Amino acid sequence: MIIAVDGPTASGKGTLAKRIAAHLGVPYLDTGLLYRAVGRQVAINGGDPDSEADALAACDFPDELLEDDILRTEEVGGLASRVSVHPAVRQALFERQRAFAEQPGGAVLDGRDIGTVIAPDADVKLFITASVQERARRRWLEMIDKHIDHEEEIPLAEIEKDVVARDARDINRKDAPLKAAPDALVIDTTSFDREQAFETVLEAVEEALREKRA
Ligand code: DC
Repeated sequence: MIIAVDGPTASGKGTLAKRIAAHLGVPYLDTGLLYRAVGRQVAINGGDPDSEADALAACDFPDELLEDDILRTEEVGGLASRVSVHPAVRQALFERQRAFAEQPGGAVLDGRDIGTVIAPDADVKLFITASVQERARRRWLEMIDKHIDHEEEIPLAEIEKDVVARDARDINRKDAPLKAAPDALVIDTTSFDREQAFETVLEAVEEALREKRA
Protein backbone atom coordinates (compact mmCIF):
# COMPACT_ATOMS: atom_id res chain seq x y z
CA MET A 1 0.00 0.00 0.00
CA ILE A 2 1.61 3.23 -1.18
CA ILE A 3 0.13 6.58 -0.18
CA ALA A 4 1.39 9.57 -2.15
CA VAL A 5 0.91 13.03 -0.66
CA ASP A 6 1.95 15.91 -2.92
CA GLY A 7 1.44 19.64 -2.78
CA PRO A 8 3.11 23.05 -2.78
CA THR A 9 5.35 24.48 -0.11
CA ALA A 10 3.80 25.07 3.33
CA SER A 11 0.53 23.37 2.37
CA GLY A 12 0.67 21.27 5.53
CA LYS A 13 1.16 18.08 3.52
CA GLY A 14 4.10 16.96 5.67
CA THR A 15 2.19 17.16 8.95
CA LEU A 16 -0.81 15.44 7.39
CA ALA A 17 1.26 12.70 5.75
CA LYS A 18 3.11 12.01 9.01
CA ARG A 19 -0.15 11.73 10.95
CA ILE A 20 -1.70 9.44 8.33
CA ALA A 21 1.38 7.21 8.47
CA ALA A 22 1.25 7.05 12.28
CA HIS A 23 -2.48 6.34 12.17
CA LEU A 24 -2.01 3.47 9.71
CA GLY A 25 1.21 2.25 11.36
CA VAL A 26 3.32 2.47 8.19
CA PRO A 27 6.69 4.19 7.64
CA TYR A 28 6.81 7.77 6.38
CA LEU A 29 9.33 9.58 4.17
CA ASP A 30 9.55 13.36 3.83
CA THR A 31 11.17 13.49 0.38
CA GLY A 32 11.65 17.26 0.60
CA LEU A 33 14.21 16.57 3.31
CA LEU A 34 16.39 14.73 0.75
CA TYR A 35 16.39 17.79 -1.54
CA ARG A 36 17.03 20.01 1.48
CA ALA A 37 20.05 17.86 2.40
CA VAL A 38 21.41 18.24 -1.14
CA GLY A 39 20.88 22.02 -0.97
CA ARG A 40 22.64 22.22 2.37
CA GLN A 41 25.51 20.00 1.22
CA VAL A 42 26.09 22.25 -1.82
CA ALA A 43 26.46 25.17 0.59
CA ILE A 44 28.84 23.17 2.81
CA ASN A 45 30.89 22.27 -0.28
CA GLY A 46 31.03 25.94 -1.30
CA GLY A 47 29.28 24.98 -4.56
CA ASP A 48 26.64 26.69 -6.70
CA PRO A 49 23.09 25.27 -6.32
CA ASP A 50 22.31 26.36 -9.90
CA SER A 51 25.17 24.24 -11.26
CA GLU A 52 24.00 20.72 -12.08
CA ALA A 53 27.50 19.27 -11.48
CA ASP A 54 27.83 20.91 -8.04
CA ALA A 55 24.31 19.81 -7.06
CA LEU A 56 24.93 16.25 -8.25
CA ALA A 57 28.17 16.05 -6.24
CA ALA A 58 26.16 17.08 -3.16
CA CYS A 59 23.81 14.07 -3.53
CA ASP A 60 26.51 12.14 -1.63
CA PHE A 61 25.55 13.93 1.59
CA PRO A 62 26.12 11.94 4.81
CA ASP A 63 22.92 10.44 6.34
CA GLU A 64 23.51 12.32 9.63
CA LEU A 65 22.78 15.54 7.74
CA LEU A 66 19.12 14.49 7.57
CA GLU A 67 18.94 14.95 11.36
CA ASP A 68 20.21 18.54 11.27
CA ASP A 69 17.53 21.13 12.19
CA ILE A 70 19.12 23.62 9.85
CA LEU A 71 17.44 21.70 7.00
CA ARG A 72 14.10 23.14 8.19
CA THR A 73 15.06 26.77 7.62
CA GLU A 74 13.68 28.97 4.83
CA GLU A 75 17.19 29.45 3.51
CA VAL A 76 17.80 25.72 3.01
CA GLY A 77 14.26 25.34 1.58
CA GLY A 78 15.22 27.86 -1.09
CA LEU A 79 18.45 25.97 -1.86
CA ALA A 80 16.44 22.71 -2.08
CA SER A 81 14.07 24.25 -4.60
CA ARG A 82 17.06 25.36 -6.71
CA VAL A 83 18.91 22.02 -6.71
CA SER A 84 15.67 20.15 -7.40
CA VAL A 85 15.37 21.58 -10.92
CA HIS A 86 18.38 19.52 -12.09
CA PRO A 87 17.38 16.20 -13.73
CA ALA A 88 20.63 14.54 -12.54
CA VAL A 89 19.73 15.33 -8.93
CA ARG A 90 16.20 13.98 -9.33
CA GLN A 91 17.63 10.81 -10.90
CA ALA A 92 20.18 10.40 -8.09
CA LEU A 93 17.43 10.58 -5.45
CA PHE A 94 14.94 8.40 -7.36
CA GLU A 95 16.05 4.92 -6.23
CA ARG A 96 16.11 5.82 -2.57
CA GLN A 97 12.53 7.10 -2.74
CA ARG A 98 11.31 4.22 -4.90
CA ALA A 99 12.85 1.62 -2.54
CA PHE A 100 11.12 3.29 0.39
CA ALA A 101 7.77 3.25 -1.44
CA GLU A 102 8.12 -0.45 -2.27
CA GLN A 103 8.52 -1.67 1.32
CA PRO A 104 6.38 -4.78 1.84
CA GLY A 105 4.22 -3.24 4.58
CA GLY A 106 3.49 -0.11 2.59
CA ALA A 107 4.60 3.48 3.03
CA VAL A 108 3.50 7.10 3.01
CA LEU A 109 5.66 9.57 1.06
CA ASP A 110 5.19 13.29 0.73
CA GLY A 111 6.73 15.59 -1.85
CA ARG A 112 6.05 17.21 -5.21
CA ASP A 113 6.19 14.32 -7.67
CA ILE A 114 5.28 11.22 -5.66
CA GLY A 115 1.99 10.54 -7.45
CA THR A 116 3.37 11.48 -10.86
CA VAL A 117 6.97 10.12 -10.96
CA ILE A 118 8.09 8.21 -7.86
CA ALA A 119 4.95 6.13 -7.37
CA PRO A 120 2.49 6.53 -10.26
CA ASP A 121 1.20 3.15 -9.05
CA ALA A 122 0.30 4.52 -5.57
CA ASP A 123 -2.92 3.16 -4.05
CA VAL A 124 -3.95 6.58 -2.79
CA LYS A 125 -2.88 9.93 -4.26
CA LEU A 126 -3.59 13.17 -2.48
CA PHE A 127 -2.71 16.69 -3.56
CA ILE A 128 -2.87 19.04 -0.59
CA THR A 129 -3.06 22.75 -1.29
CA ALA A 130 -4.09 26.10 0.22
CA SER A 131 -4.01 29.75 -0.89
CA VAL A 132 -0.63 31.53 -1.05
CA GLN A 133 -1.69 33.93 1.74
CA GLU A 134 -2.78 31.12 4.03
CA ARG A 135 0.36 29.06 3.39
CA ALA A 136 2.57 32.10 4.09
CA ARG A 137 0.61 32.82 7.28
CA ARG A 138 1.00 29.24 8.52
CA ARG A 139 4.72 29.21 7.77
CA TRP A 140 5.15 32.53 9.55
CA LEU A 141 3.27 31.35 12.65
CA GLU A 142 5.28 28.12 12.66
CA MET A 143 8.54 30.04 12.50
CA ILE A 144 7.53 32.29 15.38
CA ASP A 145 6.35 29.30 17.35
CA LYS A 146 9.37 27.09 16.86
CA HIS A 147 12.11 29.68 16.37
CA ILE A 148 13.45 27.33 13.76
CA ASP A 149 15.17 30.01 11.75
CA HIS A 150 18.49 31.22 12.97
CA GLU A 151 17.98 34.57 11.30
CA GLU A 152 15.97 37.40 12.83
CA GLU A 153 12.20 37.23 12.49
CA ILE A 154 11.20 37.47 8.82
CA PRO A 155 8.22 39.74 7.94
CA LEU A 156 5.07 38.00 6.66
CA ALA A 157 5.26 39.87 3.32
CA GLU A 158 8.71 38.41 2.73
CA ILE A 159 7.53 34.86 3.48
CA GLU A 160 4.67 35.40 1.03
CA LYS A 161 7.14 36.49 -1.67
CA ASP A 162 9.24 33.41 -0.94
CA VAL A 163 6.20 31.11 -1.20
CA VAL A 164 5.30 32.63 -4.60
CA ALA A 165 8.89 32.22 -5.85
CA ARG A 166 9.08 28.64 -4.59
CA ASP A 167 5.74 27.77 -6.27
CA ALA A 168 6.92 29.29 -9.55
CA ARG A 169 10.16 27.29 -9.50
CA ASP A 170 8.48 24.02 -8.47
CA ILE A 171 5.64 24.36 -11.02
CA ASN A 172 7.67 25.59 -13.98
CA ARG A 173 10.69 23.26 -13.88
CA LYS A 174 10.89 20.94 -16.87
CA ASP A 175 11.64 17.74 -15.01
CA ALA A 176 8.90 16.39 -12.69
CA PRO A 177 7.15 19.71 -12.08
CA LEU A 178 4.79 20.14 -9.17
CA LYS A 179 1.34 19.10 -10.36
CA ALA A 180 -1.52 16.95 -9.22
CA ALA A 181 -1.60 13.51 -10.85
CA PRO A 182 -4.75 13.17 -12.98
CA ASP A 183 -6.05 10.55 -10.54
CA ALA A 184 -5.14 12.50 -7.38
CA LEU A 185 -7.74 13.82 -4.98
CA VAL A 186 -7.14 17.56 -4.56
CA ILE A 187 -7.82 18.83 -1.04
CA ASP A 188 -7.79 22.60 -0.43
CA THR A 189 -7.22 23.24 3.28
CA THR A 190 -7.38 27.07 3.15
CA SER A 191 -10.44 27.27 5.38
CA PHE A 192 -9.61 24.25 7.57
CA ASP A 193 -7.86 24.16 10.91
CA ARG A 194 -5.37 21.34 11.60
CA GLU A 195 -7.96 18.89 12.90
CA GLN A 196 -10.44 19.54 10.08
CA ALA A 197 -7.64 19.04 7.56
CA PHE A 198 -6.58 15.77 9.20
CA GLU A 199 -10.15 14.45 9.42
CA THR A 200 -10.76 15.30 5.75
CA VAL A 201 -7.55 13.63 4.62
CA LEU A 202 -8.10 10.57 6.80
CA GLU A 203 -11.61 10.12 5.43
CA ALA A 204 -10.30 10.42 1.87
CA VAL A 205 -7.58 7.82 2.53
CA GLU A 206 -9.95 5.38 4.20
CA GLU A 207 -12.49 5.78 1.39
CA ALA A 208 -9.80 5.20 -1.27
CA LEU A 209 -8.49 2.11 0.54
CA ARG A 210 -12.06 0.73 0.89
CA GLU A 211 -12.59 1.19 -2.85
CA LYS A 212 -9.29 -0.59 -3.59
CA ARG A 213 -10.29 -3.54 -1.46
CA ALA A 214 -13.81 -3.77 -2.89
O1 DC B 1 8.62 19.99 0.84
P1 DC B 1 9.85 20.88 1.06
O2 DC B 1 9.51 22.33 1.24
O3 DC B 1 10.72 20.37 2.15
O4 DC B 1 10.69 20.77 -0.30
C1 DC B 1 11.80 21.59 -0.55
C2 DC B 1 12.06 21.66 -2.05
O5 DC B 1 12.47 20.37 -2.53
C3 DC B 1 10.87 22.05 -2.91
O6 DC B 1 10.79 23.44 -3.11
C4 DC B 1 11.10 21.31 -4.19
C5 DC B 1 11.94 20.13 -3.83
N1 DC B 1 11.22 18.86 -3.82
C6 DC B 1 11.04 18.24 -5.03
O7 DC B 1 11.42 18.79 -6.06
N2 DC B 1 10.46 17.01 -5.10
C7 DC B 1 10.03 16.40 -4.00
N3 DC B 1 9.46 15.19 -4.08
C8 DC B 1 10.17 17.03 -2.73
C9 DC B 1 10.76 18.28 -2.69
